[in-house]
Amino acid sequence: MKVIAGNWKMNGTRTGLTDMVAALQNVETENKIILCVPYTMLGVESNRIYMGAQDVSTHDHGAYTGEVSAQMVAATGAKYVIVGHSERRQYHNETNDIVRQKVTAALSAGLTPIVCVGETMDEKQAGKTMEIIESGVKESIPNDTNKNIIVAYEPRWAIGAGLTPTKEEIAEAHKLIADTLMSMGLSGTPILYGASVKGSNAAEIMSIPNVDGVLVGGASLKPDDFIPIITSVK
Ligand code: PGA
Repeated sequence: MKVIAGNWKMNGTRTGLTDMVAALQNVETENKIILCVPYTMLGVESNRIYMGAQDVSTHDHGAYTGEVSAQMVAATGAKYVIVGHSERRQYHNETNDIVRQKVTAALSAGLTPIVCVGETMDEKQAGKTMEIIESGVKESIPNDTNKNIIVAYEPRWAIGAGLTPTKEEIAEAHKLIADTLMSMGLSGTPILYGASVKGSNAAEIMSIPNVDGVLVGGASLKPDDFIPIITSVK
């Protein structure tokens, strides 16, 4: 069983989500399907797909105009939330420290955070990939975390770019994440790979050791692109 998570980013409509739910209804799979959609689409029901948000506030409630709390997300029936996606880190200056506070908020509301880590092209070229991944995991996940967490490795230079690291690079990154999680008492935590996953590369990526699933952006928006990823592995 693999975890196939979609990240719609700021795309789609509620009607489009209803169509996706209908399209996935009869797809034969034992994989766990998660769709992380804009807040306004949460509440669409499905007995097949787990819904998730793409961010949460560090705060519970209060005078924080425009923010949405983890409790509010949980109240829609959503079970997951992406935290620390590279676009949040890049465009909203989210640091590991902020991400950790969001993970705490998500966990206390009963949501499973999907915590993203990954290196930029500059960091890759400077030979810092492993350092960024390890500090991303250690600093973005609170010490007292239970096991209700997912980690996603997303090389930032490969997102939406049609680029993917080599199998060896993915294997090395996922091994480091697995070892780091083990040192934190979190062995068994699912580790997803994300960045330019599509039907044609999903099975190969998910055959790499320590890759427990994928986090899919662009190719999760349409059933014709998403279903081949879901059915590419058992
Ligand atoms: P992509 O996005 O699949 O479009 O590269 C992945 C992500 O940002 O989660």
